[in-house]
Order: sequence, then C-alpha cells, then structure tokens
Amino acid sequence: MSVTDEIKAKIDIVDLVSEAGVKLRHAGRNYTGFCPFHVNKHTPAFVVWPETGTWRCFGECNEGGDIFKFVMKKEGIDFKEALQKLAARAGVELPAYRPEKPEQKETYDRLRKLLEDALIFYRSHLLNHADILTYLHEKRGLNDATIETFGLGYAPQGFDNALQHFTQRGYSEQDLVDAGLLSENESGKRFDRFRHRIMIPIRDDQGRMAGFGARIVDPDDIPKFLNSPETPIFSKGRLLYGLDRARKPIRAADQAVIVEGYLDVIALHQAGYENVVSPMGTALTEDQLRLLKKFTRRIVLALDPDTAGQKAVLRGLEAARSAMDREGELGFDARGLLRNEARLQADLRVASMPDDLDPDEIVARDKDEWKRLIENAKPIVTHVMDALAAGRDLKDAKVKNQIAAQVLPLIEDLPNAMERDTYRQQLARLLRVDERALIGAQAQGPRVRRARPVERKPARESAQVAVRTPSGQKVEGYVISVLFRRPELLYRLDRLLQQYGLLPLETEDFEYTDYQMLFGLIRQAVEQDQAEHHEFVVDALPESLRGLSRELMTQSEQLDPVEEKLLEELLRGVIKMRRVAAGENLNQLRFLQEEAHQAGDLRAASYQDLVLQHTKLLRDLDQANQRISLKRFQ
Ligand code: UTP
Ligand code: MN
Repeated sequence: MSVTDEIKAKIDIVDLVSEAGVKLRHAGRNYTGFCPFHVNKHTPAFVVWPETGTWRCFGECNEGGDIFKFVMKKEGIDFKEALQKLAARAGVELPAYRPEKPEQKETYDRLRKLLEDALIFYRSHLLNHADILTYLHEKRGLNDATIETFGLGYAPQGFDNALQHFTQRGYSEQDLVDAGLLSENESGKRFDRFRHRIMIPIRDDQGRMAGFGARIVDPDDIPKFLNSPETPIFSKGRLLYGLDRARKPIRAADQAVIVEGYLDVIALHQAGYENVVSPMGTALTEDQLRLLKKFTRRIVLALDPDTAGQKAVLRGLEAARSAMDREGELGFDARGLLRNEARLQADLRVASMPDDLDPDEIVARDKDEWKRLIENAKPIVTHVMDALAAGRDLKDAKVKNQIAAQVLPLIEDLPNAMERDTYRQQLARLLRVDERALIGAQAQGPRVRRARPVERKPARESAQVAVRTPSGQKVEGYVISVLFRRPELLYRLDRLLQQYGLLPLETEDFEYTDYQMLFGLIRQAVEQDQAEHHEFVVDALPESLRGLSRELMTQSEQLDPVEEKLLEELLRGVIKMRRVAAGENLNQLRFLQEEAHQAGDLRAASYQDLVLQHTKLLRDLDQANQRISLKRFQ
C-alpha cells in the first residue's frame, strides 16, 4: 500500500470534513452540505463520497478531490505539507526521501562486493566443516549442486574470524559494520555478527548481494535465524528471498508462490518448483507484492496451518497492521491482503499445508503433492471462511452468527459487486442459511453504521472503511504509465485533444492522488529543458511514489511501437477518464436535483445549468470518440 493510500484508508473523509466545520447531511450513499470554499451559500452543492474518500463542489468552485486536496485547499498549504499533516493524524510514518545518487551507488557497489567476498569466505568454511555439510545433506536433503547454487556457507565459532580475515584484506572495520558483518557492543567493541551459523546469502531481484540470513546449528542458540541488519541495500520489507532465481520461472509459469522459510525456497527449487520466494520473517508488504507483480499477477501464499489457521485469521482480522510486523511470522492479515489484491489487481490465493508440515517436508514426502496443493489454493475470502468453520459446529446458531460477523465485513469491502455476490452465496451455503439472512445481518456491519448522524464522535470503525478503487482508476493508470515512460508525448496529446475540441490534460483529470502527483511532475518535466524528461520525473519522485513508479514502468514495458497508434490509445484513455468522471458527476447532480425537487424548494433549478454543462461535455466526448473511429477508415 502506498503511503498516501495508507493514510486515506485510516482517515475518514466524513470526519475530516465535518471537523473543518462543514455540516454534512447523510443523503443516500453520500453526504451533502454547504461548500466551505465559496461564499454563495444558497445551495448545499458540496458532496462527500465516503466510499471513494472523495469530495466535490458542484457549485461555484466546481472542484473536487480527496482528503489531501481538501486539506490543501482549506488550509492553503501544498501537497507536501498536507501529506505531513494527514500522516501525523493517521499515525503513518512518512518514508525519508532518498534517491540513489551516483556517489551513493558507488558506496553500495562497494558493500555488495564485500558481501560477495563474504559469501566466498563462508563457503570455504562450510567445505571445511564436514558435520555441517552432513547436516545439510542428510537432515535437509540438499545436494551439492543446490548448496553451490544458493551459495550456502558456514560462519565459524569465534568472535573475530570475519573481522580478521577482511581487515587483513584491506577492508576497514567500518566497511564491515556498514555491510552488517560486524556488530558493536555498548563500549564500541566490534565483533563478528554471525557465529556458528549456516549462512544463506540474500540477493535482490537483480541478483546483487544484499545481505545474509543465518540459521542456528546449535538448537539452543537464539534467535533461530539472524538476518543482516537493515542497511541501505538490505531492506527486509522490499526484498524477497529467492527472487533473483525465481523471476524467470515465475514469468514462465505466470504464477508465484510465497512460502515462509529460506530452506523451503531452497528445497522447492531443488525439487523442480522454481517459482518460489519467501519474505524474511516479516509480514508481507505491499512493496513485496508490487515487486512480484512485475512478473505475474497470480500469487499463491503457502501458509503453515497454524499461521493460516483460525488463530491467525482472527488476529489478522482484528489486529492492527503494525502488530503483524513481528519477526519470525509471515502473518496473515486478510483485510490487508484483500486491499492489496484489489489495488494491485492481483489474484491472491492461499494454500494451507497439511499435517503440520513445512513445504520442504512436503516435497520430501511426495513431490507431486506440492503441485496439487498449489493447484487447489483458494481465494482469500474462501480460505478465511473455511478456516473459521473448520472444526466448528455449524448447526449452532451462535457459531453461524460469529462466522458471518467476521466474514461479512471482508466481503463488503470487496470493490467488485459480482465477487461480493458470489462470496455471499458461498457463505450462505456454508452456514446453510438463506442469503437474505446475511444481507439482514449486514445491517449491523460497518457500512450502515456510517449512516448515523455525522456529528457523532469519530468511531473506531470509521478508520477501517476501505478506500475503494475508483471506477476510472484502471484507465488512469494506463494513461499515467505511458506518460511516465514517455513524458514527451504529453505535448502531442494536448494538441490532439485540442484538435478534437477538448481541453488539454490537467491534474484534475486524475482522481487518484498518486497519479495527480506524478502527472504534476510530468508536466513540470516537459516544461523544463535542463534534464531528459523521464529522468527529471524520476529524480523528483518522492519516496512515497517509488513503488508505484516501478509498477508503472513494468506496465508500460510493451507499448505500441507505432507512435500514432499509441497517441490514439492515449487520447481514447483520456476521453474515457473524462466520460467516467462526467457520468459520475451527472448522476450525483441528478440525485441532488431530485432531492431538492422533493423538498419542494427552488434549488432544484439551480442544478439545471450544471446538468446541461455535464451533458454537453459527455456529448462532446462521444463525438470526439466517433471522429477518432471514423478517421481510422479514411
Ligand atoms: P521457521 O522457524 O519456520 O524456519 O521460520 P524454517 O525456515 O522452516 O527453518 P527450518 O526448516 O526450521 O530450518 C520461517 C522463516 O522466518 C524467518 C526466516 O526467514 C525463516 O526462514 N525467521 C524465523 C526469522 O527471520 N527469525 C527467526 O528467529 C525465525
Ligand atoms: Mn522448515
């Protein structure tokens, strides 16, 4: 989840707007009130959509946006300040801005080289320790080729083996500390971080050394796994173990499998299942999912029954995200996963491991069993239902109630109506109740609770309301991904729009804040001539947009080489975005009009102009579309 998304998910726009002194009235799925930004206050033309976290003034200002835009406008501050303000309110930490500068790259490359040397050092110690090799061969079933491929090693007993070895070879102690090979005690004394452990080199997705995971040999030692400390090149939340080797197989299989442990990744690769990666003892992050999504959108989580089981499901549903970020647990936060799934348009499934076995034990027992387990992976909601129902007495009305109460909020959060229907039916069948009973039960769910007057104290649940994917987001994503890669197309696109009687592309055309920000940078890029356009955007990217930018680059990897065609696609994209927005606005206006009409007041007429304007816009957009199609046949 990007930082802006996380903040949006945690702040209730209705609370925010109300606190700014706008008296909102609940109207259908929305809230209406008087616009705080202009003085003419005859009509309540200000509308807030809690579901998408957006607002719009249909009156004089005819402007809209999300929580950031609202605060920017209300307080006259810029985006950066609004971001800081709202991040503080949401309790979300903002990542520091740190682009990789050339001199930094040099430092990083030096660290990587040191880590490559460390790999060789640990490997030579492994080859000299028959007992450790025997453990890997016999207890773990790993052959020499696998040990070599994964670069496994052994860090010997003692506090200064690496220290001596590398300082004698020209590295400074500081280099060793920076690379995470040495630790420091309180009195500043430096010593080998890894002692008497099996060393597992960790590389980034491009195969560059990043750090080590180190497993105990002596079962009494703690912790069981010791990883490199966070360094500029080793960030656990952004790396996936095994991805350097798995990326091709993942593409080939169009599927990635995520397991929990290093040794599971290694054993599965040896068994011929190479599309497997693992996080490193922390809950799965959105960055990691985005990284995987470069290679496939079909992702299976292979969870041990305990993590995936009832306990963890309950915890996942109730506990805050941060609580899941504990060391040593993959974690299963159903709600978080579902949100990521929707946002990334991924297909996330869960396979649970039978008989309390780890994946490496499963392939050791029966290679084909792994294949079957992965093939039978279930969608997240189905998995949650089944896990909650396992071993419970489903005839008991109380049990049914409990399960429904936990699963329905998840279902309600899904952005897709068809999926919501399907899962509701599935839940009804599982609990053997009439589907209508479930819809009734929903009345106690978070959605309807929102319907209480807004003057209420901000309720705890309000923070949980999902930010829904706006309908036009996909096409917005396409347009921004092309422009991000090829900013120079923007001028030509603008000219084209004008030829069709339409306005140039502007920030307001994008609904999604991240896209708005990115578009702002793209606009700036083409208006300067100091730097190459794309480079300019990349350099100016705030840290919070880096994940997104990587995703957009993959998305735009294969653009139509014929520029005319590409421009036409872009043009159609922009028209579609504007149609979606105009259509939504028109619906809302008709609703406001109808409401005023019923209340028998004159305001109804004042909406008429706006309705006409939007209708005309829609007509212009349609005409432009037709002209584009006609041009094709000329
Ligand atoms: P497990 O305890 O399940 O270990 O931790 P494992 O990988 O199956 O190892 P074996 O089979 O007992 O040898 C799963 C993963 O969680 C992380 C590691 O990435 C590990 O592979 N972990 C675990 C830690 O980072 N620190 C710990 O102390 C424990
Ligand atoms: Mn294991």
